[in-house]
Amino acid sequence: MHGFVKWFKMKTFYCIATTFAIFVMFYMNNTSYLKKTKIEVFSSAMITSRPNGERTTEREAFYVTRPRTRTRYILLWTNPRNYPFVYFGEGNSIFKNKKCKYTNCYVTGNRQILRDVKEYDIIAFNGPQLITIMTNDDWPRGRSIRQKYVYTNIEAASNYPLCSKAWNNYFNWTWTYKLDSDAIWGYIVIKNTSNHVIGPSTNIDWIVTDDMDPVDEDVKKKLSFKSEAAAWFVSNCNTVSKREDYVNRLSVYLNDYNLKVDIYGSCGTLQCPKPYMKRCLEEVQRKYYFYFAFENAISEDYVTEKILNAVNHYAVPVVFGGADYTRFLPPGSYLDAYKLGPKELAKEMYDIIENRELYYRFFRWRKYYSYHLKHESPDTDDYCRFCEMANDEALMANITIYDNFTSWWTPPGICTVIDHF
Ligand SMILES: *[C@@H]1O[C@H](CO)[C@@H](O)[C@H](O)[C@H]1NC(C)=O
Ligand SMILES: *[C@@H]1O[C@H](CO)[C@@H](O)[C@H](O)[C@H]1NC(C)=O
Ligand SMILES: *[C@@H]1O[C@H](CO)[C@@H](O)[C@H](O)[C@H]1NC(C)=O
Ligand SMILES: *[C@@H]1O[C@H](CO)[C@@H](O)[C@H](O)[C@H]1NC(C)=O
Repeated sequence: MHGFVKWFKMKTFYCIATTFAIFVMFYMNNTSYLKKTKIEVFSSAMITSRPNGERTTEREAFYVTRPRTRTRYILLWTNPRNYPFVYFGEGNSIFKNKKCKYTNCYVTGNRQILRDVKEYDIIAFNGPQLITIMTNDDWPRGRSIRQKYVYTNIEAASNYPLCSKAWNNYFNWTWTYKLDSDAIWGYIVIKNTSNHVIGPSTNIDWIVTDDMDPVDEDVKKKLSFKSEAAAWFVSNCNTVSKREDYVNRLSVYLNDYNLKVDIYGSCGTLQCPKPYMKRCLEEVQRKYYFYFAFENAISEDYVTEKILNAVNHYAVPVVFGGADYTRFLPPGSYLDAYKLGPKELAKEMYDIIENRELYYRFFRWRKYYSYHLKHESPDTDDYCRFCEMANDEALMANITIYDNFTSWWTPPGICTVIDHF
């Protein structure tokens, strides 16, 4: 009798316990997908090695990774296959591959990885696709005040103006080529001789040309084979900036001095297929006095990697764009075609080609500054920086609102003409 009661009680206990356990397992299976992904990403962030690839001890690893243990979720709201989002890929491998300081950012275009869009730390929007959000009424439903909505654009503002007031008070951060963006997306890094990044920047304290040493014999030797006036590599022959018309007019003036622009690519007569670019740039270095870095759009701060082809190949850049080039190039190192106009530019080019000493002056900066691609190093890489910002608690917690966003982004005058988006 006694034994039976005991047996019965135990049986009941096991029965309840098993039911409870099954219930818990069932419940977790259904709802903890979110938790599981978090844990997986979290652990992969823990085991990443340091930027220099050395392995850390467990104790060290704890302290190294402790402040950045939590995964930061970055949702790409617009199509993740468009530039520049496509470079992110899915997950955090981009940050590992680039050996970024922080690798605990999980980037995705999948709006369902977390239960609610409010849970993503950052939601990024690509400028050229904002129009589809409006036309499809595809806005994120619900918003947390601690989230950062990021406006991204690597295309020229004049090509993608925004005029709708809907975008005011919407974004918290900007990630564009404009130098006053919260995070700058760009190609170029300028360093000084102690390896400090000094630009591009709205305010660079350049050494003036007169205070720079004359170029040494080594540089003079490199410049001694120059024979042709200018090279222009171009594949888009019909641009908003109308650079093609400018070059046509310039060519007429240059012809008076018996000079010409050699045009490579589908808009010209000379060829340089992409795989041969390195060889072509060696040719530029050897024989061209000038290299045309003409942008396809005229917008403030819109300067692409073209100027690197010039400055890193001993050719003087002739620039054409809407930028204030003192933010990008040392004084006396370039000619600004947009400011000079074709007639004056032709004359300047002729005068400089005719006068060796004048030409040498354009290379004095080389002793003081160097030009690099931003993605060459994790310290300057834009994608690394993005994840670093997501990890900066003070930056994330700081409430920032672009109340006058359309005026910030869109060049003056455009919105009165085109009154949509
Ligand atoms: C390089 O720039 C940094 C930061 O502006 C400055 O502290 C340093 O003195 C500069 N080095 C040289 C050699 O000018
Ligand atoms: C917070 O944002 C404001 C305005 O953008 C800025 O002036 C301030 O320095 C920021 N503070 C921190 C801690 O980042
Ligand atoms: C982001 O912007 C929204 C809308 O202006 C604002 O309500 C929110 O406080 C901002 N959040 C942060 C973290 O900056
Ligand atoms: C928005 O910015 C523009 C240009 O920066 C300025 O002219 C305008 O007055 C600003 N509007 C408001 C409401 O702050």
